[in-house]
Amino acid sequence: MDSQNAEFRKAACLADIPLGGTKAVRLDDKRSVALFNVDGRIYATNNQCPHMGYPLTRGTVRYGVVTCDWHGRSFDLEGGGCFMPGCDDLETFPVEVRNADVWIGLGNTAYTRKDKHLRLLWEGLLRSDEWTIAKAIALLQAGGVPDTEIAQVCLRHLGRHVTTEGGPEAGGKVSSLINGIKVARKYEGEEQLIALAGAARATAGEAGQRQPIKPLPPPVTWEKIEGLCRVFSRDRMEPGIERCLVTARQDDKNNDRILKLLYECVVEDHFLGFPDNLTSMAYLSQIVSEFGWERSQELVCNLGAKLAGRRRSEPQQFLRVAIETMKSLAPVILAIQDVRTKPADPQQQYEDALAGALVGTDVKRAFEAVGAVLKAGIPCERVIDTCVLLAADRMARTPVNVNSGWPELTTELNLSVSLRTAFKHGGATVTAKALFHTAYQFFQDRWLNIPARSLRKALEPGQLTARDEKSGITEICRSIQALDVQNVGPQVRGYLDAGFSGERLLHQMGHVILKDDTGQSIVPTLASIYEEWETLEGHPARNQLLVGLARYAADVRRNKNSQGFAQTALRFAEGRTTVEVFEK
Ligand code: FES
Repeated sequence: MDSQNAEFRKAACLADIPLGGTKAVRLDDKRSVALFNVDGRIYATNNQCPHMGYPLTRGTVRYGVVTCDWHGRSFDLEGGGCFMPGCDDLETFPVEVRNADVWIGLGNTAYTRKDKHLRLLWEGLLRSDEWTIAKAIALLQAGGVPDTEIAQVCLRHLGRHVTTEGGPEAGGKVSSLINGIKVARKYEGEEQLIALAGAARATAGEAGQRQPIKPLPPPVTWEKIEGLCRVFSRDRMEPGIERCLVTARQDDKNNDRILKLLYECVVEDHFLGFPDNLTSMAYLSQIVSEFGWERSQELVCNLGAKLAGRRRSEPQQFLRVAIETMKSLAPVILAIQDVRTKPADPQQQYEDALAGALVGTDVKRAFEAVGAVLKAGIPCERVIDTCVLLAADRMARTPVNVNSGWPELTTELNLSVSLRTAFKHGGATVTAKALFHTAYQFFQDRWLNIPARSLRKALEPGQLTARDEKSGITEICRSIQALDVQNVGPQVRGYLDAGFSGERLLHQMGHVILKDDTGQSIVPTLASIYEEWETLEGHPARNQLLVGLARYAADVRRNKNSQGFAQTALRFAEGRTTVEVFEK
């Protein structure tokens, strides 16, 4: 610290720090300051080791370098520089000896280390170091840095990581990032840190060097780019698609067209059986909406090309039938204009027929049922409602004695939810085609032993012991923590039957989910349920969203109490040393 601007405070008597000795002093705020007497010269530093908070007064000093006793990080006592990676520099303070007293210059306590902590976060991401990531985010949050700026570092890193190391399956990381951000915004403090740190951790990994993709030399029209992308998508030529997309990005008026074009490619019938094409496109579109094209370009152009140009093998029996049926329904799909303009069927007569066909064992019948609702002019948004509720209802009723099929069921749900983004960016024709992809996912999961049920039929009465809302939430959250998947479903139904608040229950279930190791895998589904709980108000099957989430969270829970790292990171950001924590 600059001694000119420092405000000096008396910290100790010189006699209290013998030659070669140290002394910890606590000043006005929470900071613990370490004083070192090295050959008669006094040094003052933050006592909290920047690595994990161990008190540096317990370290060893040689040649003006203090080495922490816990993991051996070493720091220059004069300037605070750290000599090892994965660790911030140490804060140091100017010292003056006045008469027989030691005075140190603290200066103001304004947060000045933002750049260093953003860099620390980046370092944690590169090294996949969970502690460094959580610590950096806790420090940035404590310094008042907005979540968006923290997330931008993760996005930049993810873009580089995916372009150099990732394949089309990297959409899962994009999902963790965008859904982690969405969930983090619904919470504060520890839960917010857990959600953000989890999102950041998902984006971590090696990121190599890569030359930037150059736009094609002119003249290149949008029509040419569009045509080439479609050909390259059919021919599995991912690099060609990426170069076309980068070229299109030269002109801002192509921005919306790019997402629509990518959607049009990934909903083609030869991509049936790749549900992550649609979910990944939804998450990429949300990344663009959240961060803008400038920041998202590298990730979107590269991963979008990987999705649209992904490899696929020769279709087997059922897939061939599905592709042929989808082709035969092309006139119905192409006849769809903007179905939003058509009135909804107030009785939702189509719903049972569609839902029954989707969970049957006949792929042709399932596809024809989708074709029938499209031909009947049922608005795409209402058909999406049916798919979302069908998936949630299956989560709420899947048997848990053998294999509940959570990966498949949550794919059904998140794929169905992603159709809303497909509708927004791709329009009605893209959504119509995407519905067949969703139907194929339901068909693929026909091995799940979940009997068909009318989504309009009243649910079985629930069973809740608690008599008020607060105790009801506690009872349900306890069941999730106790892995009581048998009882938690009836409890949620009983809670909602009593007219208690679904929003409050969802929020508290989110608390429980975030504080478990499995939380990060549930976060995308938690984010989907948050959105759909609002969207589907009024539908008789809506409660199954919460029942399904509670059963899922209870059944996959590991009870590892993983909030420990977040608590440690928060205490660290408050400037408390590890020993103080242990001694408490
Ligand atoms: S090296 Fe100091 S706490 Fe780890």
